[in-house]
Amino acid sequence: MTDSAPVDPTSTAGWKQLDGIAAGFSPDLRGWFDADPGRAEKYTFQAADLTVDLSKGLVTDEILQALLQVAKDTGVAERYQAMISGERINVTEDRAVLHTALRRPKATEGLVPAAPLTVDGQDVDADVHATLDKVYGFAEQVRSGAWTGVTGKRIETVVNIGIGGSDLGPVMVYEALKPYVQPGLEARFVSNIDPADIHEKTADLDPETTLFIVASKTFGTLETLTNARLARQWLWERLGLTDAGDDEKKDAVAKHFVAVSTALDKVAAFGIDPENAFGFWDWVGGRYSVDSAIGTSVVIAIGKENWEQFLAGFHAIDEHMRTAPLEQNVPVLMGLLNVWYTNFLGAQSHAVLPYTQYLHRFPAYLQQLTMESNGKRVRWDGSDVVTDTGEVFWGEPGTNGQHAFYQLIHQGTRLIPADFITVAKPAHALADQTGDGKAVQPGQDVHSLFLANFFAQSKALAFGKTADEVRAEGTTDEMIVAARTFTGNKPSTSILAPELTPSVLGQLIALYEHIVFTEGTIWGIDSFDQWGVELGKQLALQVAPAVDGDQDALDAQDSSTKALIAKYLELRG
Ligand code: F6P
Repeated sequence: MTDSAPVDPTSTAGWKQLDGIAAGFSPDLRGWFDADPGRAEKYTFQAADLTVDLSKGLVTDEILQALLQVAKDTGVAERYQAMISGERINVTEDRAVLHTALRRPKATEGLVPAAPLTVDGQDVDADVHATLDKVYGFAEQVRSGAWTGVTGKRIETVVNIGIGGSDLGPVMVYEALKPYVQPGLEARFVSNIDPADIHEKTADLDPETTLFIVASKTFGTLETLTNARLARQWLWERLGLTDAGDDEKKDAVAKHFVAVSTALDKVAAFGIDPENAFGFWDWVGGRYSVDSAIGTSVVIAIGKENWEQFLAGFHAIDEHMRTAPLEQNVPVLMGLLNVWYTNFLGAQSHAVLPYTQYLHRFPAYLQQLTMESNGKRVRWDGSDVVTDTGEVFWGEPGTNGQHAFYQLIHQGTRLIPADFITVAKPAHALADQTGDGKAVQPGQDVHSLFLANFFAQSKALAFGKTADEVRAEGTTDEMIVAARTFTGNKPSTSILAPELTPSVLGQLIALYEHIVFTEGTIWGIDSFDQWGVELGKQLALQVAPAVDGDQDALDAQDSSTKALIAKYLELRG
C-alpha cells in the first residue's frame, strides 16, 4: 500500500461515467425533489451525533454510484485501514500517520481493537495514554491552584505560543468550548511573528499569574521561538528580574513556562525543564495534532472529563469511517461529493458556514487542515497529478456571512458548494421579550430565529426563485425581474448536531479530517506532508539580513524585492 503507485482515478470506470454525466449535466433540485418524495430521507445519513443531509447536493443515484465506484477503485477503505494500522503512508517524510491513535480509548475501556498498535517497536497506545495522563495531571494542578507562579500566586491566564497546527486547533477548540472553561481561567493565543500580536495579548497580563505554553512540534519554527523569547523577556522584565542572576531567572522560567513538542532536547536547550514538557510523535502531523498534547492549553481550561469527551467524539467518527459501508459512510460521501464538484463541475472553492458563533474559528482551522493537506501538484509516487486537487476552503459564521458574501454564492456565476453546520440546543437560551411586533414576536426564542436563517439559506440556494415567482410578487419591470431571480441548484450539505459539546466538536473535526483523507486518496496525493511551506521559510531567512540593513544581502535580491526593501527602509526611517 505505502509504496504502490496511486491509481489514476481518471482511468476508472466510475470516473469515465461521471465524465459522461457531467458533459450534459443540468441540475434540477426542484424537479428531483418533486419526483422523489423520499429524496431527503434517502440522502440523509447519521455519523455518531451528526445528522448530515446531502439531499440539497447536486447528486443523483447514478452520480453517487459512480462516485462510490471511484472510491472503491482507488482504494479509499484500504488506505484508511493502512493509515490506522501505522503503515508509513506519509511517504515523502517516511512516516506513519496515526492521529487516530491519539483518541483510541485505553484498552481497559474495552473499545481498542484487539491488535496492539506498534510503530518501530513503540507501543503507541501506551505512549499516548502515558502522555495524556501527564497532561491531565499538570492541568489539574493548574486548575486547582496547586501549581503556582514563582511568587506563589495561582495561574489565571494561560498563553499558548504556537503557529499553524500548534495554534489554529487549540484556539478554535478553546473558542468553541468557552461554556466549558473553568471560571477564573482564561487562555490566550499568540501566533504571529508581528510583535503586535504578543504585545496585545500580554499588555494587560499580570506576570505572576501567567503561564506560557510553547507549543511547537519541531521546536524550530521561527515565529514560535521568537515569540517564546519575547515572552521570556517580558516575564523577566515584568517580574523585575532583568538584572537578576541566572538562577533566579531560571526559577521564574520553570514556574511560568511549559512546552509541547516532539523535540524535547530543544525544549531543554530553551531552558524549560523537560519535566514540564509534554511530548508527541512524528506520526502526528501539525494540522492533525489538536487532540495531542498540543491541546494542553485547552485541557487546562476545560478539564480532563471534558477533554476525554472531546477525544471520544473523534473516536466515534474514526470508528464510523472504519466500519460504515461506503454507501453510508459520511466522510467518504462528503469527500466524494467534493470530488464531483471540483473535478467535474468546476468548483474551485468551498464555503464552511457554521451557524453557531462558538465555531467562529472553525473555517480558519479547516483552511490549514484542508489546504495544507491537499494543495499538492504531485502524487505520492512523485508523478504529476492527473486532476485538479485541493479546494479553497473559506467561511464565516452565519448569519454574519449572509450580510457579507452570500450574495456571490446565491447569484454569482461561480459554483460554491457550502457546508452549513449547526446545533439544536443553544448554550444560552435567550428570548426576545419585547420583539419588534413584526418580524420578531414578543417572547421569540432567538436561537430558533437564528436557525430559521440556517434552514432558509440552504433552501434558497437549492430552489432559488423563478422569474414567474418574482412576477407573482408584483414585480413588473423585466429588468428588475431578472435581478431578483435566483437560479437555485447551488449545492449545500447541512450538518445538524444536538449540542456543541466537547464530543460533538471532536466529531466535527474528525469528519473533516476523513473528508480530506478521502479526497487525497482519490487524487493520489500525500495529504500529510507540507513541502510547499518550506520555500517561503527559507527565503525569509535569506532576506532577513537585507531587511536588517546588510548591503551585500540587499544587493543579492531581485530588483523588485530590492526596491521594496529599500522603500521599507526609507519609510521606516
Ligand atoms: O506551516 C508549516 C507547519 O509545519 C505546519 O504544518 C505546522 O502546523 C506549523 O508549521 C507549525 O510547526 P511547529 O509546530 O513545528 O512549530
